[in-house]
Amino acid sequence: MLMRGFQKTFSIVFGGTLLLSTFSGDACSIVGYVGGKYCKEFVLKGLSRLEYRGYDSAGFACLTQQNHDLLCIRAEGKLDQLKKKVLNEAVDGFVGIGHTRWATHGAATEANAHPHVDCHNTLAIVHNGIIENFFSLKEQLVAQGHQFVSQTDTEVLAHVLEVELQKQLTLDAAIVDMVSKLKGAYAFIALMRDKPDTLIAVRKSSPLCIGLGNHENFVASDFLAFAGKTNKILFMPDESFAVVTKQAIALYDFKGNLLAQEIKTIDVSPATYEKFEHEHYMLKEIYEQPKVIKKMVDYYVNNEQEVWKNLGISPDQIAQLQSVHLFGCGTSWHAARIGQFFFEILCGLPTSTSLASEFRYMPFFPKKNGLYVAISQSGETADTLEAIRLIKAHELPVMTLTNVVSSTMVRETDGHLLLKAGPEIAVASTKAFTTQIASLYWLAHRIALAKGLITPERMAQAEQELKQAADVLEEAIERYKVDMVKTYAKKYSQAKRFMYLGRHVGYPFAMEGALKLKEISYIFAQGYPAGELKHGSIALVDLETPVVLFSHLDPVIYQKLVANAQEVKARKGHLIVFAFEGQDELIKLADQSFIIGRVAPLLEPLAMAGLMQFFAYSIAKELGCDIDKPRNLAKAVTVE
Ligand code: M6R
Repeated sequence: MLMRGFQKTFSIVFGGTLLLSTFSGDACSIVGYVGGKYCKEFVLKGLSRLEYRGYDSAGFACLTQQNHDLLCIRAEGKLDQLKKKVLNEAVDGFVGIGHTRWATHGAATEANAHPHVDCHNTLAIVHNGIIENFFSLKEQLVAQGHQFVSQTDTEVLAHVLEVELQKQLTLDAAIVDMVSKLKGAYAFIALMRDKPDTLIAVRKSSPLCIGLGNHENFVASDFLAFAGKTNKILFMPDESFAVVTKQAIALYDFKGNLLAQEIKTIDVSPATYEKFEHEHYMLKEIYEQPKVIKKMVDYYVNNEQEVWKNLGISPDQIAQLQSVHLFGCGTSWHAARIGQFFFEILCGLPTSTSLASEFRYMPFFPKKNGLYVAISQSGETADTLEAIRLIKAHELPVMTLTNVVSSTMVRETDGHLLLKAGPEIAVASTKAFTTQIASLYWLAHRIALAKGLITPERMAQAEQELKQAADVLEEAIERYKVDMVKTYAKKYSQAKRFMYLGRHVGYPFAMEGALKLKEISYIFAQGYPAGELKHGSIALVDLETPVVLFSHLDPVIYQKLVANAQEVKARKGHLIVFAFEGQDELIKLADQSFIIGRVAPLLEPLAMAGLMQFFAYSIAKELGCDIDKPRNLAKAVTVE
């Protein structure tokens, strides 16, 4: 049986947005402040910390100190636009809310930006998720004479609250009635002119937490927003609401019953969220990889019992294990595809991998003695969460491999293995990818050890291999970083499209390479199995389509890759190879080669990852792209 671990006090360094929606809606970040200080400082700073979660518009509202007038400022575009507007206003309120948005429901316009207000500008609301029945609610409200100015579902909330506050005698009664009318998954924070010392925080499925300060309280969709201000956190239970003043918090269920409050202590150093001397978070995170991989391995080794307990896999379960099922999205899915080789080769277990975004629409064949592993940096990706729920609905245990211990996935699954990578802020995943590979490698060995397939000595050797691959990753970047920026990035930023090729573990790695380039440089790239080139894609090979080929250390696979390289050269293609030391035949064929130190064969992707990411980074930088916040993307895709 998998055991669900329960931790009352976390000691961690990273907070994840705890947002979840089962419907399409805005994926956003929300924050709120009530206390004795001017709220704009906290609200804007909190939003800055969460901006990477969504950044196509932003908004701020507060009650002015004098008269408690409602001041609401919104801006299209990145948070800086909002900051400029707010700084131009004399904002002096002690109660405020803010929002950054990644729109999926109504265009990213100023009118659709949150906060939204009621008819008489008496209250303002910021919201994550979606109100599923907003259309019918809106029709009723319009019939009653309410006026709407946006296309969002959130505006409906403002008007429903307006109605309920007029109807009910108490605030809690108004919220109880309000939530009984709402369908969907949502978290929202509201402030009201009539209650100038109060915030309302409401949570259903979309996470929301409250930071308890000294004569001040903070509300946010992710506790990262108030890291450094307080370490006392109340994660609101599902289907609950809170009435928050600077002195007190009252927590209720959706029926209006008072709830006990479980306050957790989470120590987060705000410094872990700084990019220091680095121009971009992505660069910082690329460079951090050797350190975090080694730290992760040491953590697993030195905390063997705790790690094993958290995995939630009993010896019986290991003995009976017949298959492994890995699933995730994007980069995490690529890590799963690489991990598949580990479990099949090292544990002899048939292993499947699934794109979580497709999972629910495929037939599902429950495997009683299967190990189901969700892979997710954030632990919040809606598609992956829904796949978890589907598997759990069949009463099968699921484990999460994630970077965020406080994430929804950790809470909803039966065991977890942490990546220990520290906060990953850049939208393009880098260190989460390499720690995912490293932790899957470790897990496959650990299961092989528990099954008696390898010796403890071999286990220790595997741990050393991980550390050695981390060193090689570092050396590879060091070897090429100057020329990459000065020469290669200039040259390759001119390319219109790229083809990335690999075989075996190199094929999912090629997909990851292509994804990295696409998402930050906007240059089209396709990751492809090298052996499939001749079955069609070779038609694209020309001088204007550089082909990036990732080598392999297995002699048979290597020779096949050499043949693929020759196919490219025979068509006058421009060939870039990532090869290992001594692979001269391949290196000689290449127009450009990046030579990397040798590692344990299954860890090739780990060793090459840093340079592959640096390649994409340098091209994107040369093109002047907004690397940490690429267009149209958000860090945690918390909507389907
Ligand atoms: O947080 P997750 O690992 O679940 O996120 C999954 C994908 O959305 C994510 O890996 C995405 O593909 C990244 N932007 C890739 O760099």
